[in-house]
Amino acid sequence: MNKAKFITFEGVDGAGKSTHLAWFAEALRKRGKEVLVTREPGGTPLGECLRDILLNQSMYVETEALLMFAARFEHIEQVIKPALERGTWVVSDRFSDASFAYQGGGRGMKLEKLEQLECWVHESFQPDLTLLFDLPIEVARQRLSKNITLDRFEQERDCFFEKVRHAYLERCKKHPDRIMLIDAAQTPEKVKVNLEKLIILL
Ligand code: TYD
Repeated sequence: MNKAKFITFEGVDGAGKSTHLAWFAEALRKRGKEVLVTREPGGTPLGECLRDILLNQSMYVETEALLMFAARFEHIEQVIKPALERGTWVVSDRFSDASFAYQGGGRGMKLEKLEQLECWVHESFQPDLTLLFDLPIEVARQRLSKNITLDRFEQERDCFFEKVRHAYLERCKKHPDRIMLIDAAQTPEKVKVNLEKLIILL
C-alpha cells in the first residue's frame, strides 16, 4: 500500500474549493483510503479559537501571520503528522500557501518574513500535493455575494483578491512539482472530471 499523503486545497474565497474538497475526500474513501478532512486556520481546539479571532478582529498583518502560523504549528504536531504516521490521508482546506497569498500578496507582508515563519514552523515538511483553484476575481465575487455573512477577509475589496490571486499563481510557478492549477471557472461537473482523473493517479 502506498504511503498516506498530505493534500491541501487552496484558492481565493469563492473559488469553490470547499465543495470540491468534500467530494474529493469521499472519492478517496471510496478507493479504500482512511481520510481526515481538516482546515486552516483551525483543525485543533486552540486553532479553532484562533480562527474565530483571525476572522473577526482587526489586527496588524504581523499579528495575523504569527497567529496563522501558531495555529498551524498546533495543527501539524497534534493532527497532521500523527494522522499520516498511522496511515491516514490528510486533506486540508488551506495551509501555508494561503499565508503567502493573503498575508504576503494581499496585505503586502515581505515574503522573506513569511519564509522565516514557514521554516520555523514546518521546515522541510510540505504537502505532497496542493490543488490551487484559480478563477477570475469577478467570478469568485459573484459566487461569494450569495453568502449572507462575510468574514473579515471576504469583506476585502477586489484589488486585495487580485493580489491574493497573483501571489497564489507566483507560488505555483515557484513550486510546479507540488502545486497543481485547477481551472475553477469551469462548471463544478468539469472540475470533478479533472479531479477524478487525478485521484486514479494518487
Ligand atoms: P476559508 O477557507 O475561506 O474559510 P470559509 O470557506 O469557511 O470562509 O478560510 C478563512 C480565511 O482565512 C480565508 O479568507 C483566507 C484566510 N487565511 C489567511 O489569510 N491566511 C492563512 O494562512 C490561512 C490558512 C487562511
